[in-house]
Amino acid sequence: MQTRYAVISDVHGNLPALQAVIADAERRGANAYLLLGDYIVDFPWPNEVAETLRSLRNATIIRGNKEERLLNARVWRGNEQMAATEWTYRELTPENLTYYSALPSSAEITDDSGEKIRLFHNFKTLIREPRIEIFRSSLFHAQMGMSRFTIEDANLRYREAVLNRSDAMAEIAELPDGVYLWGHNHLQSKLEIDGKLLINPGGCGVPLDFAGAAPYTLIERTAERWKITQLRVKYDVQATVDALKASQFSKAAPVWVKLAEKSLLGGRDYFAPFRNYAHELGLSRGEPDYPVSNETWRLAAATFDWDSL
Ligand SMILES: [Fe+2]
Repeated sequence: MQTRYAVISDVHGNLPALQAVIADAERRGANAYLLLGDYIVDFPWPNEVAETLRSLRNATIIRGNKEERLLNARVWRGNEQMAATEWTYRELTPENLTYYSALPSSAEITDDSGEKIRLFHNFKTLIREPRIEIFRSSLFHAQMGMSRFTIEDANLRYREAVLNRSDAMAEIAELPDGVYLWGHNHLQSKLEIDGKLLINPGGCGVPLDFAGAAPYTLIERTAERWKITQLRVKYDVQATVDALKASQFSKAAPVWVKLAEKSLLGGRDYFAPFRNYAHELGLSRGEPDYPVSNETWRLAAATFDWDSL
């Protein structure tokens, strides 16, 4: 039987989103799972997400920058900008902390067809994707320039943006043929360029391109080509936000939780604009640029234009 892979990235602690995606993938006959990192921090279910991942059969699972950051959580103790990471670190059972910390940073598998599938969290390790503006979640909507668009519109724009960049094209040309899976920017995309298939399943827990559903992508090798199905699974987003706001996590990291709520409900990135604003404020107050002091973090939350996006 041909392998049907469910590709999932950037769960960010959003257990209801992950459960909805897994249930949909099972219904659609997925028999393998490829997970691309960032399982924790923005929502209060880091242990439940770990246990769900550990229960998946036939899964290849790599880590993201959020798991890497766990290793530094103790350094930032008491800093409010880092409160979400610190809360997650304290909340995790020793087994789940070890589980996340031990995940590999990339992986390569070989499909039954002989094709290689490579997993990365951040494509920057392959091409300098963040320098192409449309791939930056904070610039994505402005780059799209339309109030309403479909995933097909977005795929076309991504393709245009890459084709227009000779530096990116040269980097892609150097890559061995095959399938490349990546996450990190929380934007669902698929590109077929120069014999390479570049697929980002989107931000399952916090999509920053579309609101109201959890994205993932199914891939399956058919006789001559890869069949790619970009999906968005509806689930109760409002109930998830209500549970987030009622959680202990919300008390420990209130500003972070507001960013998660706004981003999830709006389907766009509040994190980067807010972080940039707070850092500018910190610099103007003569602070080191990262992380900012608690006073600056609170002042930023009080003065940021939350309705500007
Ligand atoms: Fe992420």
